[in-house]
Amino acid sequence: MLERMGMALMRRMDPETAHGLALKALTMGLAPLPGVVTSDRLRTTVAGLNLPNPVGLAAGFDKNATALAPLSRAGFGFIEVGAATPRPQPGNPKPRLFRLTEDRAAINRFGFNNDGMEAIATRLATRPKGAVVGLNLGANKDSADRSADFARVLTCCGAHVDFATVNVSSPNTENLRDLQGKAALEALLAGVMEARAGLAVPIPVFLKIAPDLDPSEIKDIAEVALGSGLSGIIATNTTKSRAGLRSAHKGEMGGLSGEPLFEMSTRVLARLSHLTEGKLPLIGVGGVGSAEQAYAKIRAGASAVQLYTALVYGGLSLAAQIAHGLETLLARDGFETVADAVGTGRSDWL
Ligand SMILES: Cc1cc2nc3c(=O)[nH]c(=O)nc-3n(C[C@H](O)[C@H](O)[C@H](O)COP(=O)(O)O)c2cc1C
Repeated sequence: MLERMGMALMRRMDPETAHGLALKALTMGLAPLPGVVTSDRLRTTVAGLNLPNPVGLAAGFDKNATALAPLSRAGFGFIEVGAATPRPQPGNPKPRLFRLTEDRAAINRFGFNNDGMEAIATRLATRPKGAVVGLNLGANKDSADRSADFARVLTCCGAHVDFATVNVSSPNTENLRDLQGKAALEALLAGVMEARAGLAVPIPVFLKIAPDLDPSEIKDIAEVALGSGLSGIIATNTTKSRAGLRSAHKGEMGGLSGEPLFEMSTRVLARLSHLTEGKLPLIGVGGVGSAEQAYAKIRAGASAVQLYTALVYGGLSLAAQIAHGLETLLARDGFETVADAVGTGRSDWL
């Protein structure tokens, strides 16, 4: 009830202001938090990470790692903060976040606004124990060597997180997505894997990809991923597509997230699952707003899922709701564990 009232109020505000307030409310203890949501069926292991449930918070919600303690008790099985870049940067001019209410979607063009890796590392160093926390790695807009930025952030913050994600798929830093090309990606990942090897405890490293890739680009990425020692792939980031939208803000520049991204991102996920033949754990993200959609991503090939935009419309309590709903769906179909269901519906998406 309290959550619904708060959300109705926030929906009248500018979206970025509302998001800042939501984070503040969280850190002040104003949001009801369910704690850890888990069961024998939901507990799962992804790239060596032991997750209480497979429903994660996607990158970008807590860019500066300021709400780690409450988010750790919000019902998510894992949390990804960031993106962090080596140096702090302000991002693009405001407004840069738009609600597309009729489409249950959002468009953002933040452009990696963040406090920089050192400030973020300091916060991560005092994070609550127990929760699985990862960091989204980004590059500075004006960097002379963007590829090297990913490795620098990993070296700086790697000791304080359980996993890291190389984000070469944000549409809001010009030309960043070019780093998804085969040669550039190989070189970039070699640097990141070297930084990973230099950590006292090497952590899993994921690659996050865009949904706007054609089949041959997806094939190249699968090959590079398998050959590079990556721990897994997160599919996908936001899209540049605007197909089928109805909302007033549909013409804004930036990346589209939420419901309209669901099908597109699930197809990329299924294709990757097919190409990597289950050898590489995949995390499915894009348009997840219900237990049915989380379950569909798992059956398309995801070992775990993440969400962000649906929280804008459904509130933070959605995390626990989806995890509980997933338990019911797995039980209904006779799956003892999440892992048993992974990829069982892949052919529907190919
Ligand atoms: C406001 C906003 C900021 C985001 N920032 C990042 C980011 O810094 N790094 C990243 O990898 N993805 C970022 N994303 C993408 C999300 O992590 C996710 O991949 C995408 O929104 C699709 O999931 P969704 O439909 O559940 O939102 C951002 C998304 C939104 C809406």
